[in-house]
Amino acid sequence: MRKFTYFKRYRMEVDLRLPPAGGLGPAPLPPGFLWVPWHDRLLDTHAEVKALSFADELDSVVFPSLGSLIGCRDLMWAIRGRPGFCPRATWLVLGPAADGAWPAGGCVATIQGVIDESGHGAIQNVGVVSECRGRGIGRALLVKALAGFAAAGARRAFLEVTAQNAPAVRMYRGLGFRCTRTIYKAVPARESVGAGS
Ligand SMILES: CC(C)(COP(=O)(O)OP(=O)(O)OC[C@H]1O[C@@H](n2cnc3c(N)ncnc32)[C@H](O)[C@@H]1OP(=O)(O)O)[C@@H](O)C(=O)NCCC(=O)NCCS
Repeated sequence: MRKFTYFKRYRMEVDLRLPPAGGLGPAPLPPGFLWVPWHDRLLDTHAEVKALSFADELDSVVFPSLGSLIGCRDLMWAIRGRPGFCPRATWLVLGPAADGAWPAGGCVATIQGVIDESGHGAIQNVGVVSECRGRGIGRALLVKALAGFAAAGARRAFLEVTAQNAPAVRMYRGLGFRCTRTIYKAVPARESVGAGS
């Protein structure tokens, strides 16, 4: 009989009509980092940054597509193809040129957003390459995407996060997201899968 590993996940939501918790307002990027708005020709770059950001992370076990470049390309095509794809909530961050030759054309972080059938903003994947974490880029991406949803007319935004992903859960809470539901995601068990329960 096939065995499954069950990963606890939270659906978290935020009211876009209220300021983010802590009155954050705009969240600037660190000096030298730049915003890159969505363009169709950047689909592969988003996929590359996504693959780099999720490599060796728990979410690439929970969602195996996140663990390979091909999988991330497929995900990006699926996101781009959704009727509610929201370019204003979809951004890349370009690293400082002086930092040397980054892969992915110098881009170091990605976020994508979709407006769902209820008119709510759905954060898809947010990822920052490991070398650039802890500098406020993840938070800046979220604030930028939430502003994009609000500009597109959404009143609420939501996402799902693996409960064990403490940095991400903490980041979302800090931005005013609150847990509204607990979900268990079944993943076919592999011998190498050690996380989850
Ligand atoms: C989650 C992720 C996007 C955070 O990006 P980041 O640029 O490092 O985050 P920031 O520097 O903007 O930090 C924002 C907040 O996140 C939380 N945080 C970030 N790193 C943390 C860590 N190692 N431990 C605990 N909390 C952490 C903190 O609350 C932080 O706010 P603070 O600095 O005021 O305490 C990044 O760790 C990542 O890409 N992880 C892999 C992909 C992933 O899991 N994405 C989320 C899927 S739901």
